[in-house]
Amino acid sequence: MNIIREVSAMRAWSRQKRAEGKTIGFVPTMGYLHEGHKSLLSASVQETDATVLSIFVNPLQFGPNEDLDRYPRDEERDVAIAKSAGAEVVFAPTVEEMYPNEMYTTVRVPALSAMLCGASRPGHFDGVATVVSKLFHIVQPHQAFFGLKDAQQAAIIEKMVQDLNMDVRIRTCPTVRESDGLAMSSRNKYLSVEERATAPELYRSLEQVREWVEQEEWPIGEILQKWRDRLQNMECAELDYAEILDYPSLQQPDLNLKMKKGQHRWIAACAVRFGQTRLIDNVLIGTH
Ligand code: PAJ
Repeated sequence: MNIIREVSAMRAWSRQKRAEGKTIGFVPTMGYLHEGHKSLLSASVQETDATVLSIFVNPLQFGPNEDLDRYPRDEERDVAIAKSAGAEVVFAPTVEEMYPNEMYTTVRVPALSAMLCGASRPGHFDGVATVVSKLFHIVQPHQAFFGLKDAQQAAIIEKMVQDLNMDVRIRTCPTVRESDGLAMSSRNKYLSVEERATAPELYRSLEQVREWVEQEEWPIGEILQKWRDRLQNMECAELDYAEILDYPSLQQPDLNLKMKKGQHRWIAACAVRFGQTRLIDNVLIGTH
């Protein structure tokens, strides 16, 4: 397996694979890999001829008071995981290699970036769309794999690819969870013992919301109220947001609406802060 650090070398590798008639699968990450990342790698290895995993902690998508400097890193371990999962290349550029000059260009998908995580992290999704767009131009994959754990990110990338006619197929894969339901995340390691014990409540509450919605008994406005009350009562946690939106348009449905089977596709999504650590989770409800 190759570790490539330069844009020109990455491009040359991809050009060669394409010339050989091979399909390229791409899994963009910020490293510190866990089972969630591994599930994307296996999907790519299964469905394409050659898989590239990128590791790049992208400064553009972190706000000034966010965890860029303390974002966990362990390249050696990541490379070993990528290798055993069957990746052919780890693309791990430096910040200078990705951003040698001041950036004048930004890719933005404003209509999908204002709500949910975009409301609490201004500019975050501009940073994500810009770096993913750069990575697509560098790696030139046929297919790229994203996790539904970051459902808003996946919706934004799909719309960006559609709007800008990018020649890549976006694949979304289900959220991988710990046995107690907590969504795997590189940030889970920052939770104290007490916070870690409370954190599965996010997913338990989401399952409850799914049940309430699917019972078709209450309008979503009422469900939202009950759900927010529940999350606000969590120990050692502060609610950032809890929303039920149409997916993937991320528009707010009429709060008086009740779910009608086969007619709606909604996302229930929440973010909660445990001290400095912010966790997100979601479930999709309805027709998929
Ligand atoms: P990162 O948080 O490292 O996540 C990389 C990919 O792994 C994303 O597509 C994310 O949705 C997926 N992922 C994370 N946790 C998961 C889980 N528990 N189950 C399934 N998939 C999971 O997302 C980013 O990096 C960055 O924003 C990036 C797209 C790389 C751009 O910088």
